[in-house]
Amino acid sequence: MDSAIPMTQPKTTDSSSARRDTLSVTDNRTGKTYEIPVTNDTIRANDLRKIRVDESDFGMMSYDPAFNNTASCISRITFIDGDKGILRYRGYPIEELAEKATYLETAYLLLHGELPTESQLREWQHHITHHTFIHESIKKFLDGFHYDAHPMGMLISTIAALSTFYPDAKHIFDPESRKKQTYRLIGKMPTIAAFSYRHTLGMPYVYPDNDLSYPGNFLNMLFRTSETRYRPNPTLEKALDILFILHADHEQNCSANTIRGVGSSHVDPFCASAAATAALYGPLHGGANEEALRMLMEIGSVQKVPEFIKRVKAGETRLMGFGHRIYKNYDPRARIIKRIAYEVFDLMGKNPLLEIALECERIALEDEYFVKRKLYPNVDFYTGLIYQSMGFPMTMFPVLFAIPRMSGWVAQWEEMLLDTEQKIARPRQIYLGHDTRSYVPIEQRS
Ligand code: ACO
Repeated sequence: MDSAIPMTQPKTTDSSSARRDTLSVTDNRTGKTYEIPVTNDTIRANDLRKIRVDESDFGMMSYDPAFNNTASCISRITFIDGDKGILRYRGYPIEELAEKATYLETAYLLLHGELPTESQLREWQHHITHHTFIHESIKKFLDGFHYDAHPMGMLISTIAALSTFYPDAKHIFDPESRKKQTYRLIGKMPTIAAFSYRHTLGMPYVYPDNDLSYPGNFLNMLFRTSETRYRPNPTLEKALDILFILHADHEQNCSANTIRGVGSSHVDPFCASAAATAALYGPLHGGANEEALRMLMEIGSVQKVPEFIKRVKAGETRLMGFGHRIYKNYDPRARIIKRIAYEVFDLMGKNPLLEIALECERIALEDEYFVKRKLYPNVDFYTGLIYQSMGFPMTMFPVLFAIPRMSGWVAQWEEMLLDTEQKIARPRQIYLGHDTRSYVPIEQRS
């Protein structure tokens, strides 16, 4: 390699020097030097293909399992600076949105790029609210699930099933069709989630109440029993709305990457978002809040925290709700969630697991193992405690994550579709398996 400036070093400010936005690479196999354009601190992986030993060579590729250092798209939706603990939607800091906006306003922002005017918001809320009902046949479909089916499994399957109810959704390049599917997806998520929950309890489904707010209606469909009119508790309604804002998008995470990847085959948005919901179900992604709460219950008492941390450091288990691929600092969402937790506890009584969580955090933030690896609480560390105090069973935790994430998924999906540089997602591989060999008849195999 010659004196090319590595991307990790600060750029020179000397304007008199002949600075070029390129990267010079010398291939020591051939002695040839290549100049690769640098745009936005990035080189295009395809430019590496010029680096070849001879004409028959396929060309150089980059190897990046799990996309640790590969940008798969250009996006204008969400910005994260993981080292500084910054999260912004369309340029607006998450702290300001959590304090001043509603979830539906935030969803509009994610999808349209700008905050809505009063009339735009009214119209948006009207459309979402009027797509909350689900077809009666979907109820029958839900009835077919076993009584102890995990609500995430029901949610994934039902979102996919919506594709069969709305075949017009396949017109993905028709803006009007995309708009309609967006209303349907965001509108129906709380209904499917609540019906899944009621099904596991064997309780009758509660139909949407269009006079309530988005989170208020969700609480109504979950918890209403014999009241003629359900009135959501304003503190819980507000807390849920803020939690929805915090979970609405998070740039190219596992499930966003899934909806982009699956959507790149031009399947309809219901199938693509069912795949994203499945990605979210995993314990390393949206399933982590459920796992974090199970872990706190397993620890059992503040006295047992040091012993548990010892096991984590020995590599026997992980401190769930800690660590993040991008945040190497306190997750800004976790800070907001910690505050909401106290508001909910003031109303519902303190969650006895809180002390254990605080002790885990205290020890981890001082312990060299966690400090060295930059492991901080993520969004999932405290959400489980809040959800439990609000009366949600653990199996509903990832569902509570999926509901608001739908707006982020649809925004990512649409951005991918309209990006003329995007094609069907199809990574390369490095094949290290056998070279050609001849078939061996079964009787000759050892
Ligand atoms: N507890 C203990 N050690 C951890 C943890 C943890 N929670 N997370 C990472 N580490 C350690 C790893 O063992 C590894 O140590 P090593 O270098 O000695 O091998 C090092 O930190 C780096 O870990 P990776 O797994 O390489 O980090 P990666 O970026 O791939 O993983 C992840 C990020 C999956 C979030 C990880 O931190 C984790 O498993 N956390 C627990 C699950 C969790 O909370 N997930 C929610 C993420 S947020 C979300 O999806 C909304």
